[in-house]
Amino acid sequence: MIPSQKHLFDIPSEVSYLNTAYMSPLMNSVVIAIDEGARLKAQPWKLKISHFFDDVDKVRALFAKIVNVSAESIAIIPSASYGLTTAAINLPLAEGQTIVALKYQFPSHTYPWKKKARESEAIFKEVDVEDGFAATQSVLEAIDERTAIAALPNVLWTNGVLVDLVKIRQRCDEVGAALVLDLTQSVGAMVTDFSKIRPDFAVVANYKWMLGPYTTGFLYAAEPYLNGRPLEQGWITRKGGRNFARLTENSEEFEAGAVRYDMGERANFALMPGVICAIEQILSWGVDSIQTTLGLHNRDLCERLDGIGLKTTPHYLRGPHFIGAKVPDGTRDDFLDVLAERGLFLSQRNQDLRITPHLWNDQTDFDRLISTLSEIL
Ligand SMILES: Cc1ncc(COP(=O)(O)O)c(C=O)c1O
Repeated sequence: MIPSQKHLFDIPSEVSYLNTAYMSPLMNSVVIAIDEGARLKAQPWKLKISHFFDDVDKVRALFAKIVNVSAESIAIIPSASYGLTTAAINLPLAEGQTIVALKYQFPSHTYPWKKKARESEAIFKEVDVEDGFAATQSVLEAIDERTAIAALPNVLWTNGVLVDLVKIRQRCDEVGAALVLDLTQSVGAMVTDFSKIRPDFAVVANYKWMLGPYTTGFLYAAEPYLNGRPLEQGWITRKGGRNFARLTENSEEFEAGAVRYDMGERANFALMPGVICAIEQILSWGVDSIQTTLGLHNRDLCERLDGIGLKTTPHYLRGPHFIGAKVPDGTRDDFLDVLAERGLFLSQRNQDLRITPHLWNDQTDFDRLISTLSEIL
C-alpha cells in the first residue's frame, strides 16, 4: 500500500478530486520540469541538437519499461486518435470482414475503424457490454473467422468494465485477427505486459493514468509493422536527421524501429521533461503497487457506495483502479455541478458515474465522497 501522496500535488484541502479518468493533475515536480523546459525556448541559444533527440529517446525507453517491451517499438504521438489512425492505415481489411469493438468505447477508437470499414465494405461490429456482464466472453463470441481486427480497450472508459486481453489475444491468434488497443484508461494504473498481450498496435494518451501533460502519448507497433506507413512525411525520423546542416542530402530512409511513426515536432522541449518526470515517479512507486493501492481503496469505497444505494460494477468485472456506478433514476440533471460546488469532482459518461481516485486522495476525500453523495443523490 502506498500512503497518500497528496503532498506531491497542488490540491487544496477543500478539493476532493476523484476524476483521473477525465484528467489527472500534474505533480509539482512535473510542473517544474515543464517550466524549465519552456524556459529553454525563451533562450534558444541554449538549445543543442541533442535536445531534439535525448529526451525523446529517454521517454521511449521509460514508457517501454511500463509495458515491458523494447524502446525500439515505441513512437511518440500527440493523441490516441493519432496512433489509432496510424494503426488503421497499416492493417489490411477485406470486403465482408469484421472489426470487433465494444459498444460505447471512446470515439478515437471507433472513427478510424468505422471509416476503414466503410471504405473496404467491411463490417464494424460493436459488442454491447453496457451492464458490464461477461465483457470478455461477449467479445470472444463476437470474434470469428471473418474478424480481421479486434479494436479494444482494457477497461471501458465509461464504467471501468474489464476486458481480459490475454484471452482476446489467444482468440485473435486462432482466427488470424490483429489486436489494436487503446489503453489510455489503464496503462500507468494497471500492470500491462505486452510480452503477454502481444498487441499488433497499442496507444496510450498520457494525460490520465500516466500523470503526464496533455498532447503527449505513445504508440506501440509490433515487429511486423516497423516498416509501415506513418501518418506524416516528417524529416527528423529519417536517417541522417541529426546533421541539421545537411538535411537536404538525406535519403527518404527512416531510422530503425517505430521512430517512423513519431509525430512532427516530437521534441517538445517544454513537455518532454514533464513526461520523463511523471514516468520516473510512476516507476519508482511501481505500477503493481499503484494498482494494489487503488484497488484496495476502491473495494472499500464500493462497499460504502453500495451501502448508500448506488449500484457499482462488481469488482471482478472492472479494472481495480476504476469505479463505475449507475446514476440512480430521478437524479437531478445538474448533480455534478452541485457536487463540484461542494468540492467533489467526478464525471458522468452515459448512465455511469465515474469515480476514479488516485494516490493524491486520502481518507478525507473518501469520507466526503460518501457523505456528499448520500445527501445529493
Ligand atoms: C479511452 C480513451 N482514449 C482516448 C482518450 C483521448 O483521446 P485523444 O487522445 O484522441 O484525444 C480518452 C479521453 O477521455 C479516453 O477515455
